[in-house]
Amino acid sequence: MICHFGGPEQTSHQRRLEFLLILISTLTIASIMLASLALRSAVAGCRNYQCKNFAKCYQAITKFTRPFATMQDKQATMPPGYKAKAGAFQTFEIPQQVTGSRGDIILGKAMINAWRRDGILQVSMDESQRSVADKAFATSQRYFDIPYDRKASCVNDQSFSGYIASGEELTDNIADYSEIFTVTKDLPQSDPRVKAKWPCHGPCPWPDTRMKSSIKTYMNHLGDSGDKILQLIACGLELPDINELTKYTRDGWHHLRVLRFPARDKTNGKGKDGRGIGSHTDYGLLVIASQDSVGGLFIRPPYKDEKYANWEKSVAGAYENDHRWVYVPPVPNVFTVFPGDMMQYITNSYLPSTPHKVGLNNDQRFAFAYFHEPNFQATLEALPGFESDENSRGIHYGTHFTNMSMRNYPQRITAKRIRAENRMAVLHTPELKTLGAAPKPAPKEEQGAEGGMQRIVDAVKNKAEEVFFSNQVAV
Ligand SMILES: *[C@@H]1O[C@H](CO)[C@@H](O)[C@H](O)[C@H]1NC(C)=O
Repeated sequence: MICHFGGPEQTSHQRRLEFLLILISTLTIASIMLASLALRSAVAGCRNYQCKNFAKCYQAITKFTRPFATMQDKQATMPPGYKAKAGAFQTFEIPQQVTGSRGDIILGKAMINAWRRDGILQVSMDESQRSVADKAFATSQRYFDIPYDRKASCVNDQSFSGYIASGEELTDNIADYSEIFTVTKDLPQSDPRVKAKWPCHGPCPWPDTRMKSSIKTYMNHLGDSGDKILQLIACGLELPDINELTKYTRDGWHHLRVLRFPARDKTNGKGKDGRGIGSHTDYGLLVIASQDSVGGLFIRPPYKDEKYANWEKSVAGAYENDHRWVYVPPVPNVFTVFPGDMMQYITNSYLPSTPHKVGLNNDQRFAFAYFHEPNFQATLEALPGFESDENSRGIHYGTHFTNMSMRNYPQRITAKRIRAENRMAVLHTPELKTLGAAPKPAPKEEQGAEGGMQRIVDAVKNKAEEVFFSNQVAV
């Protein structure tokens, strides 16, 4: 009785009120749960590729792929002496598998839109990629810390793999201060292609097996992402086959540049003041880059009034000092991804190769640039729906890569050996053009030099089939 308010009538009124209150709160909670479930399943629908409403899913995907990186002050890390606006780039999460579903098409289109607008996009690293990337950065620091003579001995006269000293590389005939370890396909002396003196084919001169294993693991992870990104782009371009792009990257000429940039007041004084890497575009299909927290990368988004074709006329050094560059601020746990020359070629410049350059900062800086490339023997042709007079002849990737390497390192022992042994001529043989437009050599029954070469090519092709989609660095 003490606790009762009023008589029994009031009590029943109070009970009704209590019931109503409970009902209302239950309903509220239930509706919140339902709404969030619906929202999640809308997104999950896209992720699981069962989306019914294209426009809705497109919204859901673009909304939930973290459209803008959160950076306190994006301008703060920009190298001194540069005028550029700091970019805020769209970040995508790459699904476990790409199947060509409607959701893949939507995601692919969103990525294409980001490239066409910004010239670059970000892909979030999954947990295992983070750990592999961390290890690769540690490896890189360890390598660049060893004495110069030991670093400099990591060269090979058959491949362009290995050490490139600060001030050695030329972009538009001006020295770059970047210090580099390049990794191309690591082939033993016994590989038929090395024996047959194919240009650029040879071993990678690793300083030790620890670096070899850490870097190869990193490249394999990037290779997986690279093929998935290419499949998404194929979906986004509405190509007839999801593997329209990845057909080129089977046993691709994937390579990596392990990069260190000195602090701007600690250069060796060999080049123009304070230059990291001069403006240029990269050669292949995809560039997947990562950087530490120092900052130094600038990119150039597509501008309507700018047309270029690096494979015909060098873009190196172009627009170097104008103001239309966009700074790429370091964002933790993302890769930055942009198209290379071959992507531009096969899409008739619908996806132009993104010009970029690197400035030196107040601290030394570590970065990686991974190139997800066509097979060396591949001849790239216009994609269905992107044919034009400009891309009607096809480009042989191996020749393009060799041309670019000869242009950038004319004095390297590798380039000298290519010239001395006239290895460029090998590029014109049918054995080197076995994938794509170039006529396939007629099968030869007889023994002898040519029959032998045919067998080598078959062996290489069979090997390529074996490693289909496994993105091995080494064959
Ligand atoms: C490579 O360079 C040669 C010689 O300059 C040129 O004729 C050829 O067109 C180039 N090929 C490619 C694919 O870039």
